[in-house]
Amino acid sequence: MANSTVTTRRTGGPALPATYTTAAGLPRYNPLSQLLHWLTAAFALAVLPLAWVALSLPAGETKGTMFVLHKSVGLTIFAIVVIRILWRAVHPAPADPNTPRALELIATVNHWLLYAIFLIMPVSGYLLSALSGRSTPYFWLFTIPGLDKNESLQKSFEAVHVFGQFAVYLLVVLHVAGTVWHLVIRRDGILERMLPVQDGRGTR
Ligand code: HEM
Ligand code: HEM
Repeated sequence: MANSTVTTRRTGGPALPATYTTAAGLPRYNPLSQLLHWLTAAFALAVLPLAWVALSLPAGETKGTMFVLHKSVGLTIFAIVVIRILWRAVHPAPADPNTPRALELIATVNHWLLYAIFLIMPVSGYLLSALSGRSTPYFWLFTIPGLDKNESLQKSFEAVHVFGQFAVYLLVVLHVAGTVWHLVIRRDGILERMLPVQDGRGTR
């Protein structure tokens, strides 16, 4: 039955549908937030190796294909992150009453910096391409027109994109390390907040 409920034991808050709480009684992210989160994670894990491979190849068709894929996946990340931020404005992150306040604050800062860098990277990527006069293909489906050539601005956005990658590595490593710490050391079931219900509660 979809309408079975459990109380949020740790929060002392009102009863939530079982599908909205973890086994430990923590409130979960809603299903669309979860879906968008894991899509971002999957595309983020793809966009980086596509760039590394593209840059390592000699000029030719395969390099071009890798760049089309890199740019298209990057633009897809941009769209998903914009949708996530809008969706989050109406569906705020669920309360996390078990994590100490200082650590919760660090996690929140990490989350907003992740949103920021995953907007900065696609925008700077598009501009570094577009300001050299090139149009940007999206998966061989359509192209986004380039802009008037401007070498100095182009170089600035290239610097943002190239140095921005280190912020991506740092923030993603901290984020995943935080999740592993919750999983292995604290064992507080935080990962479950970002996953659909695992034990069939709310479905029978
Ligand atoms: C989340 C989105 C993105 C991430 C994380 C990302 C990441 C990267 C990384 C790590 C590199 C290698 C930089 C280097 O070592 O030189 C790179 C290069 C590049 N990216 Fe992206 N990128 C993203 C989106 C985009 C988009 C949307 C475009 C264009 C529409 C783009 C265009 C480029 C170009 C043209 C290069 C080569 C720059 C050069 O010649 O040094 N990127 N990107
Ligand atoms: C495989 C890698 C990843 C794992 C294991 C992971 C895990 C998690 C978990 C468990 C949460 C929930 C934290 C909580 O309950 O408070 C979360 C939230 C979040 N993750 Fe990830 N994540 C990964 C990759 C990413 C990537 C690549 C991004 C890039 C944007 C990202 C951005 C976020 C954000 C922004 C939140 C907070 C959502 C919000 O409150 O709006 N994650 N992640």
